[in-house]
Amino acid sequence: MASGAAPSILDRRLVFVTGKGGVGKTSVAAALAHLSASHGRRTLVCEMDAKGSLADAFDASPLTFKEREVEPNLFAMAMNTEDALREYLRLFVKVPFLGKIGPLARTFDFVADAAPGVREILTVGKFCWEAKEHNYDLIVVDAEATGHIVAQIGAPLVIRDLVQVGLVRDQTDWMLEVLHDPTVTGVAVVTTPEEMPVTETLGLLDRLADETGVEATTLIANRVLPALFDRRQTAIVDRLDEVEDLLVDAAGKNVRAVMEAAHITEARRRIGSAHLSRLREHTDLPMLMVPELFTRATGRRVVSLVADALAEEFD
Ligand SMILES: Nc1ncnc2c1ncn2[C@@H]1O[C@H](COP(=O)(O)OP(=O)(O)O)[C@@H](O)[C@H]1O
Ligand SMILES: [Mg+2]
Repeated sequence: MASGAAPSILDRRLVFVTGKGGVGKTSVAAALAHLSASHGRRTLVCEMDAKGSLADAFDASPLTFKEREVEPNLFAMAMNTEDALREYLRLFVKVPFLGKIGPLARTFDFVADAAPGVREILTVGKFCWEAKEHNYDLIVVDAEATGHIVAQIGAPLVIRDLVQVGLVRDQTDWMLEVLHDPTVTGVAVVTTPEEMPVTETLGLLDRLADETGVEATTLIANRVLPALFDRRQTAIVDRLDEVEDLLVDAAGKNVRAVMEAAHITEARRRIGSAHLSRLREHTDLPMLMVPELFTRATGRRVVSLVADALAEEFD
């Protein structure tokens, strides 16, 4: 797989995929996981937001906390804080008869609402544990959107500074070891070539560095419009107006609509690439490009097209 100058995001063991809502986080997370699994690596992919889009991406029935193999080598799960709490109590607190204890949700909500970071540390802790135990070659988290990811992966740091001693405090050290090792953990930020997603991406990069200590590894520019024209052809598009009347005389009024479409398409692509340039001016992170797919396909078909585009970028 990717070697040479830029180490691939797939060479990490724990990758959080984030970005503004709707930019393609789930599609990209599913595609990265699919690529990894198709290289024979045991891979876990987890949805955080319980929307069910990750199951849809694999044309699978709803996912649960218990992971399920959706493709060879590819296991999928959905995060659920109550299940994460049960697992935590079983693994670390060694609470006996855990199965006999009724729903924990209400007690848990009470604690979680009172103490900052508790809910987040349970979920992020699950991934850190799987990474620490080497249960998978790669864990891809279809993570929270830009607004919440910092609270999630920053939780162990917040708790370490808040709680001085005790069981919870003891847990933060090994979690931070996993999260703060850039050879193990990375964040992939997905954006589209548009103003707001790019602005949110820039804000997120600053906050990740200031508040979490987790390394942003890669940017993924999704839905990039293909360049339809080379430089000379673009020059022609720009000068079409000069010959518009001639063309209309020759081919009829419809020529105007065709020319307008060429202008609009070219203008959209330029605006998009200006937004991506703004990103490049602020960061040296590698940027992988995924084109706009122009398809009505859904599910696995989209995942495999996005994966093909990413694979080309890794070569
Ligand atoms: N490169 C692309 N080209 C066309 N459509 C895309 C592309 N990437 C994602 N989509 C579509 O955009 C929609 C939102 O994508 P999704 O991955 O669910 O975003 P998010 O998880 O960020 O909300 C989905 O319908 C998906 O199929
Ligand atoms: Mg999603």
